[in-house]
Amino acid sequence: MLKIGFLYTRLRAEEKYLLEELDQRPNVEIVRVKDDGRFFDISAIPEKVDVLFERSISYSRGLYISKIYEANGIPVVNAPQVAERCGDKYVTSQILAQNGIPTPRVLMAFDEESALAAVEALGYPAVLKPVVGSWGRLLAKVDSREMAEAVIEHKATLGVQHQVFYVQEYVNKPGRDIRAFVAGDEPIAAIYRTSENWITNTARGGLASNCPLTPELSELCRRTARALGGGLLAIDVFESANGLTVNEVNHTMEFRNSITTTGVNIPALMIDYVLSAAREGTAELLAEAA
Ligand SMILES: Nc1ncnc2c1ncn2[C@@H]1O[C@H](COP(=O)(O)OP(=O)(O)O)[C@@H](O)[C@H]1O
Ligand SMILES: [Mg+2]
Repeated sequence: MLKIGFLYTRLRAEEKYLLEELDQRPNVEIVRVKDDGRFFDISAIPEKVDVLFERSISYSRGLYISKIYEANGIPVVNAPQVAERCGDKYVTSQILAQNGIPTPRVLMAFDEESALAAVEALGYPAVLKPVVGSWGRLLAKVDSREMAEAVIEHKATLGVQHQVFYVQEYVNKPGRDIRAFVAGDEPIAAIYRTSENWITNTARGGLASNCPLTPELSELCRRTARALGGGLLAIDVFESANGLTVNEVNHTMEFRNSITTTGVNIPALMIDYVLSAAREGTAELLAEAA
């Protein structure tokens, strides 16, 4: 009997698919772990499990609770080290750049004047993002110096992330971008996200359609997954004038719009991975992927 800890905030469509899938597997017991309404003792976890499957909506809850489980000898999917690399856009960009994986240019600044200088250095349009965030929230595409000044002043005044300015080159995409799903370090499916808005997140109205896993896309996904430590990942890819480029990587991906679209049973493949982590331990799985 395998005991699967299922860490969650709310049961979104994704969590329902994953729990249904787990329910169908023989010799599996699900231990639900809600990430709020209780405290966690860092030296003792209430119920031993063979793996913790982290599906928190909150980055910090997911990360801290994963670390507590891991410190108490329990493998976690995704491993907290991987979550830390994906959860902070600066860290992801740094790892991609260091590994020679194509990715838009990023400049970091820590005061208003330098942030403006960074935008000017990249040229217009440029993109400002919070280093931690999702669903396209608080992103700003600035088209002029006046706009950059205003956005930077707002960010500084509203205290968004302690004067950390992540300034990214804008990539002129063909009205869509790519979201590729990886299990272990193998790509399993991909979608195009098409939108009239420059922000294509399906949470923001972007439309999903199937994207073929070409050899180029697959190889880029493998390299990206390996660089970040592997696991269950969703990779945001842009089709730029110079070929494919990786924007960011998500470690607790949403996939509700991608199952019928791609014809791939994404939750089943995710659960396969979680069960192999429960059997073998994540460290061993990650070593295999490396
Ligand atoms: N540098 C950029 N150039 C062009 N489009 C971008 C850029 N950065 C973000 N976008 C668009 O905004 C979306 C959300 O940005 P992303 O960095 O993925 O943040 P989030 O974590 O909120 O998904 C992307 O999927 C893409 O459609
Ligand atoms: Mg994204």
